[in-house]
Amino acid sequence: MKLKNIFSATQFDKSTLVKIFAKTAEIKKGDFNKNLLKDKIMATIFYEPSTRTRLSFESAMLRLGGSVISTENARQFSSASKGETLEDTIRIVQSYSDVIVLRHFEKGASQLVASYATVPIINAGDGDGEHPTQALLDLFTIFEKKHQKKLTVAMVGDLKYGRTIHSLSKFLTLYPEIRMIFVAPSKLSIPDDLRIFLKNKGAKYEETEDFAKILKIADVVYMTRIQKERFNDHKTYKKYFGKFTLSNENINTLKREAIIMHPLPRVNEINPNIDKDPRSIYFEQAKNGLYIRMALLASIFDKV
Ligand code: NCD
Repeated sequence: MKLKNIFSATQFDKSTLVKIFAKTAEIKKGDFNKNLLKDKIMATIFYEPSTRTRLSFESAMLRLGGSVISTENARQFSSASKGETLEDTIRIVQSYSDVIVLRHFEKGASQLVASYATVPIINAGDGDGEHPTQALLDLFTIFEKKHQKKLTVAMVGDLKYGRTIHSLSKFLTLYPEIRMIFVAPSKLSIPDDLRIFLKNKGAKYEETEDFAKILKIADVVYMTRIQKERFNDHKTYKKYFGKFTLSNENINTLKREAIIMHPLPRVNEINPNIDKDPRSIYFEQAKNGLYIRMALLASIFDKV
């Protein structure tokens, strides 16, 4: 299995996912070569904030014996602040590294960069576009916890700007047994291009604002935060902030064997006092990010 650029969930088929998840499970058990990527250098260029994605990619590379160079606040601290174009930046960084992990504020940035870069490009989030590696770890976590595919997956919150669910829902179309329910205020519902994609794939999905009703039937409740940085005016953001939250009261209505997920960071979507509930698996989910990214890096260098 050899991956080159990773910019969208639509690049993956089911058999590739099976291989990536098998590799991820092996790595998670500790079964991997610590020198696999010795002599390889990964550059992380992040034009938007990140904790988990950047650090888990960097940790993944280091655990496989590779090295890391990084600019964590590229908008401010890279030469972009001097007016350098992304194209020039990439041209330089690719001469210092063997793979580039890019987070950018513009939708489509990674795909565009991949069209001219000479080293593999991994999309670590492109504006309100996609976040395919997050969705891979989300899917891995779902299948790790649920041993069957006949599932109802509810994705909740800011589905217009939330890039993780854009990628996750695209992956879910590969599993026709899975029923998707999108729970969002109508102004923050999924974008039209995603709706068209889902329709073309013949996906089973519904859209609703009835959070209380969905909690009773979902097997997976995937919460997301309102993407504050995408709103021009604070008033509109405030209007939606806190609209859908999980707390001691409403988790009582959840199925006993349901799982609660979140790509993190959470703001107020999940009350910390339910962190100890066995259904809350978001920290475990974040941990899987390391293993998924190790598997992805290994396969990019054709080591799977
Ligand atoms: C997500 C992102 O950056 O899109 N975070 C992450 O990578 N885990 C989700 C978010 O910021 O809301």
